Amino acid sequence: MDMSNRFIITAKNLKIGYETDDGVVWAVKGVSFDVIEKTSFCLVGESGSGKTSIGNAISGLLPPYSITKGVLIVNNKYVVNEDKTDFRSVRGTVVRIPQNPSAALSPYTKISDLFMDVVRNAYNRINKEQAVELIRKYLQMVNLPEDVLNMYPHQLSGGMAQRVAIALSLSINPKIIVADEPTSNLDAYLRGAIGNILRELVNSGITLIVITHDILFASHVCRNIAVMYRGKIIEIGRVEDILSNPIHPYTIELIEAATLQKGNGPKKASIATHSSSKGCVYINRCPFAFSKCYEEPNIVFIKNGHGVACWRAEKLYV
Ligand SMILES: Nc1ncnc2c1ncn2[C@@H]1O[C@H](COP(=O)(O)OP(=O)(O)OP(=O)(O)O)[C@@H](O)[C@H]1O
Ligand SMILES: [Mg+2]
Repeated sequence: MDMSNRFIITAKNLKIGYETDDGVVWAVKGVSFDVIEKTSFCLVGESGSGKTSIGNAISGLLPPYSITKGVLIVNNKYVVNEDKTDFRSVRGTVVRIPQNPSAALSPYTKISDLFMDVVRNAYNRINKEQAVELIRKYLQMVNLPEDVLNMYPHQLSGGMAQRVAIALSLSINPKIIVADEPTSNLDAYLRGAIGNILRELVNSGITLIVITHDILFASHVCRNIAVMYRGKIIEIGRVEDILSNPIHPYTIELIEAATLQKGNGPKKASIATHSSSKGCVYINRCPFAFSKCYEEPNIVFIKNGHGVACWRAEKLYV
């Protein structure tokens, strides 16, 4: 195996925009990252930071009015190469579990028929018994009883619907699963249960991309995380390094909020709010902003694999 197989996903200065009546809205403003095959990688960040846009690009599901720049390579194929896209190349390789799985399940189709369709499409020349065998295996992987096969989507609880969605995505035999907010409607107990299932999938050899605003869930499930703010990755690295030594002020804030730690009182931006499109994306909320921050910081690596885009960090650590 050559080295290029190690990274199953590579993004280089990837930009994603959408054409609207008011011009192009740039949702992703130049991100770079690598995902190691058979590991889990998490995109964390607040609403609107561009997480789903990246997940949709990886799954080949950007709408026709989207615009791209930079590079996105998935499983050795160029999905994005500047403005050229090839979304068909990821079909069968990547599957997305959508943000709201119960809405995505067709309401009048019995669960068993949903599975039969997907499995028989994914595996060539498979007979009914073999298909049933596979479906049983996938249900087991998500801890669902076989009775769910006789149900209709509206009869499933939120946690069951999420498991059905995961099992269905396994049924196409993908290399990569993109799980977009897999626990957004679930209570703490079910969040833990889904987290364990996702970890098992990675142990079974799947590459997992998790999209979430919940950094604690991310830390439970993922090996590497990228923290996003307004279309940029502001911190990236091994999850344990980021949790034990967060460097970007936004990452620190996210972790404090998630663990209900008290920060040092309310944070005030020390630079007058200035809605410039130049400079650091966090400048308006940052308690440490200084003149340099009107220039855009690039990611610098503090230690192996732990990178941060912040001028203050560069002063302190580099
Ligand atoms: N199909 C679209 N058409 C136009 N603009 C879009 C489209 N999808 C996303 N956007 C815009 O792109 C930006 C990023 O959206 P995206 O859905 O990628 O963020 P997100 O991080 O997944 O947010 P959330 O946590 O709310 O799901 C937002 O400003 C959003 O309004
Ligand atoms: Mg989203």
